[in-house]
Order: sequence, then C-alpha cells, then structure tokens
Amino acid sequence: MNCLRFWHTIGNIDIYQYSSMIECVSISKQVGNGSQKAYLLQNIDLKIGQGEFVSIMGPSGSGRCTLLHILGLLADAANGSFCHQVEEAQNIFEKKKNEVHRNIIAFVFQAYHLLEGLTISENIETPLLYKKMVGSERRSVVADILDKFIMVAKKDLFPHQLSGGQQQLVGIARALSINPKVIFADEPTGNLHSEQAEEIMRLFKKLNERDGATIVQVTHSEYNVSFGQGIIKLKDG
Ligand SMILES: Nc1ncnc2c1ncn2[C@@H]1O[C@H](COP(=O)(O)OP(=O)(O)OP(=O)(O)O)[C@@H](O)[C@H]1O
Ligand SMILES: [Mg+2]
Repeated sequence: MNCLRFWHTIGNIDIYQYSSMIECVSISKQVGNGSQKAYLLQNIDLKIGQGEFVSIMGPSGSGRCTLLHILGLLADAANGSFCHQVEEAQNIFEKKKNEVHRNIIAFVFQAYHLLEGLTISENIETPLLYKKMVGSERRSVVADILDKFIMVAKKDLFPHQLSGGQQQLVGIARALSINPKVIFADEPTGNLHSEQAEEIMRLFKKLNERDGATIVQVTHSEYNVSFGQGIIKLKDG
C-alpha cells in the first residue's frame, strides 16, 4: 500500500487543487521472504511541505532510489497498518494517479529511461501527448525546451547517439516539459560536468523560488544540496 497523502486543500477532488505536501508515516519496503527477507527501507517518517526543495542523501545502496520511487508514486511501499488513517485519502488518490503523473509530478530517472525508438524531440514531446496538449502548442513547448537546453542541433538524433550527459539533460528536459508542480530527481547531475550541473541546479532553484515547485532530489553532492533547504539522510534504509 502506498502511504502518501496528497491533500487537496480547496475542498473538492479536482486534481489541480491537490496540494503537494507529502507525508510518510513509518513506511518500509522489503524484498524476498523468510530468511531471504531484506529491508530496503525501514520505518521512514518524513514530511515534505509544499514548495520545499529537499535533498535525500546517503551512501550508495542506502535506499535513496527506492525511497524516491515511492515518493514519486512509481512504486508502492510494502505494507503498513500504520497507513490505516490515510486509506480514504489514498483511495481518492489512486484513481487520480495517472492524472497526477501527467500533470503534476515529474520524475528525472538516475538511468534516464529515454525511449530508444524516438528522437530527442519526440522524447521531450511524449509527456505532452499524454497530457493531450494540441499539436501546435506541443511543438512550441518542445521548441522552447530544445532551445533552453541548447539541444536544437540534436533534436532528430536518437538517444544512443548522445553522450551520457546529453541523455541526462534530455531526461531533465522531458520531465520539465509538463511544467510540473512536484519534481523528483534521482542524481540529476550525476553525469554532467560542473558547469552544466550548476545550470541545472540554478534552474531547479528558479522553478522552486519563482514557480513554487516542490523539489526532491537524490544526490551525493553537497554542492547540489546547497541549492535546496533541507536534507533527508538515509543510512542503510
Ligand atoms: N527489487 C530488488 N530486489 C533486491 N534488492 C533490491 C531491489 N531493489 C533494490 N535492491 C537493493 O536495495 C538497495 C537500495 O537500492 P537503491 O537503488 O534504493 O539504492 P541507492 O541508495 O539509490 O543507491 P545508488 O546510489 O547506487 O543509486 C541496494 O542494495 C539494492 O541492491
Ligand atoms: Mg540510486
């Protein structure tokens, strides 16, 4: 069961009126059974307020990806009677999960997950298709993003024709194309050189401060952390 609450503060269930505050109560995630059972996460409590920019830190393998996927509604937490009190909110939310991913939550993957059969331009366009944006508007959003990320010259190439860092930039560009209210980013600058990393962090900070986007990043970098306001430290799940 997923233990997230997305409150809607305005009093009806219109998806655009969900607040982006996230609260986890004692979430755990395990794999295997019996003697093979291992906890990837154990009893995590956390609150992330709307408009916060927080960083999840911890050693490699400490469960940072796992936690981010749960927070981003890409994976469920294991179980938990501890979530009982949010069941009702959860039910409302489940129905709207796809819509939330189309319109509100963006995810930047550690391994990029670009669609190999599509060009760079088409990769960036994909979330807009799901969002049912009309063709002319889509093309204009994609053109703007390609421009902003200095990717115009690469627009008709396929992901495998780009360097790792360039693919990472496309992953970020694609995530931001929907103008998300909540951004989950897993090592978003892991493959970028320091100047590009700084630019991306400045962009995140601007989205956070100017547009009020809630941002949760997983990072090893103290420098990246300095752009946000809070740190969640994970140690061995
Ligand atoms: N489905 C699974 N089955 C078994 N073990 C898993 C599974 N998914 C993750 N793990 C293990 O759980 C631990 C945490 O994985 P996770 O990807 O969350 O780490 P991370 O903190 O993001 O690490 P990194 O910095 O290397 O990205 C790792 O030891 C990983 O091998
Ligand atoms: Mg990871």
